[in-house]
Amino acid sequence: MAPQGRLLIRGGRVVNDDFSQVADVLVEDGVVRALGRDLMPPGDASRGLRILDAAGKLVLPGGIDTHTHMQFPFMGSQSVDDFHQGTKAALAGGTTMIIDFAIPQKGSSLIEAFETWRNWADPKVCCDYSLHVAVTWWSDKVKEEMETLARDKGVNSFKMFMAYKGLYMVQDEQLYAAFSQCKEIGAIAQVHAENGDLIAEGAKKMLALGITGPEGHELCRPEAVEAEATLRAITIASAVNCPLYVVHVMSKSAAKVIADARRAGNVVYGEPIAAGLGTDGRQYWSEEWSHAAHHVMGPPLRPDPLTPGFLMNLLANGDLTTTGSDNCTFNTCQKALGKDDFTKIPNGVNGVEDRMSVIWEKGVHSGKMDENRFVAVTSTNAAKIFNLYPKKGRIAIGSDADIVIWDPEATRKISAKTHHQAVNFNIFEGMVCHGVPLVTISRGRVVYEAGVFNVTAGHGKFIPRQPFAEYVYKRIKQRDQTCAPVPVKRAPYKGEVTTLKPRETKEDDMAGTRMQGHS
Ligand code: URP
Ligand code: ZN
Ligand code: ZN
Repeated sequence: MAPQGRLLIRGGRVVNDDFSQVADVLVEDGVVRALGRDLMPPGDASRGLRILDAAGKLVLPGGIDTHTHMQFPFMGSQSVDDFHQGTKAALAGGTTMIIDFAIPQKGSSLIEAFETWRNWADPKVCCDYSLHVAVTWWSDKVKEEMETLARDKGVNSFKMFMAYKGLYMVQDEQLYAAFSQCKEIGAIAQVHAENGDLIAEGAKKMLALGITGPEGHELCRPEAVEAEATLRAITIASAVNCPLYVVHVMSKSAAKVIADARRAGNVVYGEPIAAGLGTDGRQYWSEEWSHAAHHVMGPPLRPDPLTPGFLMNLLANGDLTTTGSDNCTFNTCQKALGKDDFTKIPNGVNGVEDRMSVIWEKGVHSGKMDENRFVAVTSTNAAKIFNLYPKKGRIAIGSDADIVIWDPEATRKISAKTHHQAVNFNIFEGMVCHGVPLVTISRGRVVYEAGVFNVTAGHGKFIPRQPFAEYVYKRIKQRDQTCAPVPVKRAPYKGEVTTLKPRETKEDDMAGTRMQGHS
């Protein structure tokens, strides 16, 4: 691969999450070397320097997509955007890092799953990436492997599924154990928050009613199913004093649960996704089966048309924190595995390419958030939570030169005909978005410019993440030190103690157990 060039991004408005300034950005060896006015190096020093004119444009930290599933083997199929095409599409949309999920089958090794995903991704990725790992079952070995992954392999986030009964779902007891281990090793616990038992029952009910189409997918898992699981996960995380990250927050009620918990002081973060911010679940009632099926994902988009705007409001005001895409794409013929039974439609939608533009359009162009909050929710907050900051998520001296030159006034129309993803459908079809990435720079290399790619498979690097991210763990540690319960000091009881009659013992023991369970 050609050596890293030197770049001078001149005259743009450099936007970080806390302030914006008109400045030049000098990039060398893949990192930001200097930031300030009139940086043109004199004479010889300017040789081999490529100048990118950014006057009148924004210069943003590249997006971090916290949630993707490239080439994911799932529900009898495999998502069609692989690590090559998926990361290329990410770059075209202004995203310079993705965090994907290594997901072992129940009973399988987490470390083997991690290595499998690395082997898939490393030779293909065109942008930097990292991996969350899923905990789909529980044993001493899983516990040990979580520790190894956090200590030696750069994993500081583990996802637990409360849905997909029989496949990935874990019970509360296992959630408790996994959250406890996350806390021990300095990781953040992530949950797919939906009540898998209720979904299974609901699905049977819908099929018995003759509802076999995609609308059944939403009807069997209404908002309350998501909100209940969200509250349950927060309650368990709070009992453990473990930080919690709720992935793909899709409903108003689940988002409210998170907002309330944050106000009550819980260390919990909510991640809405491009799909939930940009479209809604009325699509499931489309008379065109394939159109409806292409929107099937879990948790589902909500039929309430006010949901996207509501989620965006909470993202703008800080109740929700990051954004992903949950990009997990299946072509129509793959979706058709569920043509007669919605439970067999592979779950997943697109978003890795369009996330930034959709959030700019619905968030900034609509007036709900400013450019700094946009940067916070598309990159900086993710970098802080997942311990990548300030290497990622900021334009500052020493940071990785993952940069987008962004035209806030230009528009583009989203379409499956013109997108760069492998999938043959786009859930944002026809949406006109302000906010267009003109140039994308990945670790100092111009990889996308005026619609043209200059990418190499394997240019992206796996980015290991250290445990105990300060942004997340400072409060957790503080609470452990100051809020640990202490026993009341009292003189021992010296009075009479009743003697249990043998036939009363069993009942009383049970009552005692119940009481402990409530304490
Ligand atoms: O429908 C979805 N979300 N597919 C990907 C798997 C998951 O639950 O994130
Ligand atoms: Zn999920
Ligand atoms: Zn997902």
